[in-house]
Amino acid sequence: MKDSKKDNLYKKSFPESHEFKFDDNVSNVFEDMVNRSVPGYEFLINNIGVLSKKFYQPNTNVYDLGSSLCACSKSILNKVENFNGNIYAVDSSESMINICKKNIKSNNIKYVNSDICDVDIINSSIVILNLTLQFVDVKKRTNLLKKIFSQINKNGIIIVTEKISLEKASDDMFFKNFHDFFKENNGYTKEEIDRKKIALADTMEIESEVMHEKRFNLIGCNNFYKWFQCYNFVSWVLIK
Ligand SMILES: C[S@@+](CC[C@H](N)C(=O)[O-])C[C@H]1O[C@@H](n2cnc3c(N)ncnc32)[C@H](O)[C@@H]1O
Repeated sequence: MKDSKKDNLYKKSFPESHEFKFDDNVSNVFEDMVNRSVPGYEFLINNIGVLSKKFYQPNTNVYDLGSSLCACSKSILNKVENFNGNIYAVDSSESMINICKKNIKSNNIKYVNSDICDVDIINSSIVILNLTLQFVDVKKRTNLLKKIFSQINKNGIIIVTEKISLEKASDDMFFKNFHDFFKENNGYTKEEIDRKKIALADTMEIESEVMHEKRFNLIGCNNFYKWFQCYNFVSWVLIK
């Protein structure tokens, strides 16, 4: 964290047409942004490595879909001692991929600059969607997960982490406020928080836990577990 540039992107107001994008501006401060914005991020990353250690099947590949700066890929390589496949780090943001190529020295990570909907999962025991599905068009989410689930190896896993909306209005309000409080506590001002929310409104669409779990059933997965929740952030492991 100490080398990461501070996220000051929303300190200033922006034109009405501005939309949040994973461009150079965001990619350059992403590590600081995600650590100060996602409750439990460090725990999530560490434990995605631990879960992978448990479920990795030798001679198979891992897909880190929406890999950003490859935090998950790095955690997996750190934790899985017998790793002998490739990690395909897939991201539609060229800026993210370029930073990884410059900073990460590992022959096991193969970078794919593509939409995750266009990628086939080949000989894989682990597929990660850590905070990614929420940026994919809602209409494409079921088919995407269905394809991944049909293509992963037997006993393989998909890890899905999402910011969620809560079913009960009062819970939703409480946790939204709590999440804002978390960000304020990490040094963001109320204005920065509000500006980023407006910028994200057209880019990110969150769903409820019930919606996600219905989708898991719909793609044919009945064996899934919610293994993490911190405020309004949830992660599941889906087992094939
Ligand atoms: C919040 S970040 C994910 C964080 C990352 N997985 C981690 O654990 O640090 C979302 C990433 O998904 C990428 N992304 C969003 N939609 C995508 C799509 N349809 N195809 C490929 N990448 C996508 C973005 O460019 C961004 O880097």
